[in-house]
Order: sequence, then C-alpha cells, then structure tokens
Amino acid sequence: MPATVIVGLQWGDEGKGKTTDFLAEQVAMVVRYQGGDNAGHTVVTGDEVFKLHLVPSGVLYPHITSVIGTGVVVNPATLITELDMLSGRGIDVSRVRVSRSAHVIMPYHVALDRANEARLAGSKVGTTGRGIGPAYGDRAWRIGLRMEDLLDREVLRTRISQVIPDKNLLLGNMGAEAFSVDALVDQAAAWGDRLAAHIDDATWLVQAALARGEHVLLEGAQGTLLDLDHGSYPYVTSSNPVAGGACTGGGIGPLQVDEVMGVMKAYATRVGSGPFPTELTDAIGLGIAERGHEVGTTTGRPRRVGWFDAVPLRYAVAVNSVSSIMLNKLDILSGLPTLRLGVGYEVDGRRLDHWPSSAQAIERAVPIYEDFPGWEEPIHAVRSLADLPENARRYLTALEDLAGVPIVLVSVGPERTQTIERAWRPMRHRSGVALS
Ligand code: GDP
Ligand code: IMO
Ligand code: MG
Repeated sequence: MPATVIVGLQWGDEGKGKTTDFLAEQVAMVVRYQGGDNAGHTVVTGDEVFKLHLVPSGVLYPHITSVIGTGVVVNPATLITELDMLSGRGIDVSRVRVSRSAHVIMPYHVALDRANEARLAGSKVGTTGRGIGPAYGDRAWRIGLRMEDLLDREVLRTRISQVIPDKNLLLGNMGAEAFSVDALVDQAAAWGDRLAAHIDDATWLVQAALARGEHVLLEGAQGTLLDLDHGSYPYVTSSNPVAGGACTGGGIGPLQVDEVMGVMKAYATRVGSGPFPTELTDAIGLGIAERGHEVGTTTGRPRRVGWFDAVPLRYAVAVNSVSSIMLNKLDILSGLPTLRLGVGYEVDGRRLDHWPSSAQAIERAVPIYEDFPGWEEPIHAVRSLADLPENARRYLTALEDLAGVPIVLVSVGPERTQTIERAWRPMRHRSGVALS
C-alpha cells in the first residue's frame, strides 16, 4: 500500500491541518516530515478547535499512529505542552512517536533566532522566532543534539559543553543573555525523562507500516514557496516542505510515494517578509483577511492577503509532482463582485510566465490578471459540486486548468464535514484523469 504526501502549494497556512485530518480517517499512520513548531495546523471537529504545532494532524483519530519524523526539529517543551493539551482534552497520545534522530531545538536556538532578527531589523526574514534556522544550522554543522541524546545525561553534558562557549559569545555580541551548561543539561535531561516513552525509530516504524500494507500519510508543514531551496531565498524557512522532503524527512524512497496531494486556498496569504506580487493592501484584502480569520496560528501576526497567483502554482505543481489538489477556503470569496487571478507577470517591461527563482526579480514583478465574476451567496452548506454557484464552478475550473491536475476536494468551511468530495476514491495516483 502506498504513501501519500500532503504538501502546501503556497506560502503555508493553506489548510494542511484540515486536509490531513480529512484524509487521516482512511489511513493507519500520519508522519510530519519537516519543520518544527513554526507550523500551526488547525483541525476543527464539531465545536472543537485543535491547534497543532508538532503532533501530526491525524492524532484525533484513535486508530492513527502519529509520527514526528527524522526531518523535524523538535522543541521538547512545545511537544510536552501539546501532548498535555491533547490528553487534557481526552485524546489518547500513547501512539505519538518522535524520531530518535530528529534534532532538538534548544533554548539558545530560540534566543539566537530572535537576536538575529532584531539585528537584521528592516531586512529581517520575519521568522516565527521558534529557533528553526539556528537548529537546522547546527544539524548541518553536525553540532546539534538529537532526541536520543536527551536520554543520556553524559552525552548531553559533553555536547552542550562543546557548543555553549561559542553560542554565548554570539549571543553576547547581539546583546542577548548567556546560557549555563548545568541548567541546560538539567532541562534537557528532564525533557528526556518525560518523553522517553515516545522516542522511537521513526524510519523503521514508517517502513514497517508500509510493509504491512498500511496506508501512510506524510504531512508537510509550511509551503512550497517557503522551501529553503525552491522558495524566494532568503525569505524562506530552513527546511524542505516540498514533496521530496517527505522522502528525506520521513524515511521513505521516491517510489514509495503513490500520490502527492497539493493543498491550496482560493486566495493567497503570506506571513513574514518577502515578495508577494498579488498582495492586496486595500479594503478588499482587509475584507478577505477578516472573513478568513487570517491571523498566524503560531505567532498571532496578521497574515498578508492577496489574489490567487497561478504563476507560482504551476511551479509548485511541477517541483512537487502534484497528482491531485485540495482547494480550501472557497467560502471566503462569497460576496466579492469580481475575483482576480494572477496568470503572468511583467518584469522590467517583459512578460514572464514562469516563477523566477530570484527574490529580487519577484520583487519587481507586476501581476497580469484575468478577472472572473464572483458570487453572492454563502456556500458553507454546499456538499456537491453541482450545488455551487455557477461562477464558483467557473473559478474552480480556471484554477484546475492552470494547475493542470484535478482538484479532487473542495473545502467550504473549517469543519471536517464542510468538504465537497469530487469523484473521490481511496487515494491512488490519478494524474491524467479528467473529472467532470
Ligand atoms: P495550515 O497551517 O496549512 O494547517 O493552515 P492553518 O491551520 O494555519 O490555517 C488555515 C485556517 O483556515 C484554519 O483556521 C482552518 O480552520 C481554516 N480553514 C481551513 N479550511 C477552511 C475552509 O474551507 N473555510 C474556512 N472558512 N476556513 C478554513
Ligand atoms: P504552517 O505549517 C506560514 C514563515 C515565517 C517566515 C519564514 C521563516 O502553519 O503552514 P521560520 O520561523 O520558519 O524560520 O520563518 O517562514 N513560516 C510560515 N508561514 N505558515 C507556516 O507554517 C510557517 N512556518 C514558517 O513567517 O516568513
Ligand atoms: Mg498554519
């Protein structure tokens, strides 16, 4: 049985939590493959709202094994808080597993992230301040701590003693406070005691599930346009949200992936700095932000809002080999007389139809729009494509044509059941399938 990758096609916050929760009903295991607690994934069931930062969004189902994979950077304090929150709300967390090899976000990573952003001032990335960049940096430099290290006080003391003089020097230069080795060792060992029962060999768990013929979902965090390699550097995160990241971070090979479901919303948002050609700073944008509750799940920052941009969509479909799409938040566009869809750019007087790799080029891009008539009526209660207003269907078809892959699920509200299933079948590769 196959693995299915769920990947954000925009700048994050596309509704990956809702998509994962929706699909998780049919699978045995959900694996987070990259990122850390910079992510904020929302799952809504009935009147209950769950905001998850590290634990995969399948955790609400009792049959799911939830795995935090090797490619994730884990802040143990966040993980403990999240497990306690879930248990407190009656969710069984005994099947949550975290990779022995996942790297740990230490308090000095968080302090370095924040001090560096303060130093960059006007040219800051606008990070979530969760220590993501410094933790991945130490991983690449081979001076990081892994989850398994939390279980061995001697290893902790050796490795923390090796890095702390340099970290304190750097922090001191940026006017931030120093850390004590003893306090960090005590803190990390306490995290290890608390999390010992959850620390496991994630790669073998995933491989064993696939070998048993179980269906595994791999849940991406952030989105394609924030990818370290494929986003608009330096305004990116420090990991690979793209589908390829599910292989390295989840411990599977490319041929074990059967389907890549791209998740996008009916308009665009971005948190933090960086180019955003179709950004709306007028009353229309404010209205969409208000109706869509576009406030960061992790940081509470207002999200920047814009029209849907099909230029990076084509790019995202290509670099992820997307085979199907879930379109979220179509309901938020009800009531707009005209919808604009970015279909190309003009850069320095020349038409550009592909997403440029350079942030500077994107900064200069002026969008070329196609306009679509909107629809008035609310669509939260619609459960079949045929019952959508005609103009909503036209907009959907335009998005699908531009993407070149079928939109198989359409979401019309945050709740699990507010979902239109279009010719839906258990997940199998569907590229080339035309849907009516
Ligand atoms: P993620 O990071 O990709 O999981 O997305 P977030 O959870 O950060 O942000 C998506 C927000 O939109 C959450 O508050 C969801 O509950 C909400 N949401 C998801 N799908 C829909 C939808 O179709 N309609 C509406 N109105 N809200 C949605
Ligand atoms: P989910 O999984 C939206 C953004 C930050 C910043 C950049 C780098 O909920 O979609 P980082 O803290 O990762 O070093 O910040 O990436 N960012 C996100 N934006 N959704 C997210 O996650 C994000 N995670 C990071 O705002 O621009
Ligand atoms: Mg989010």
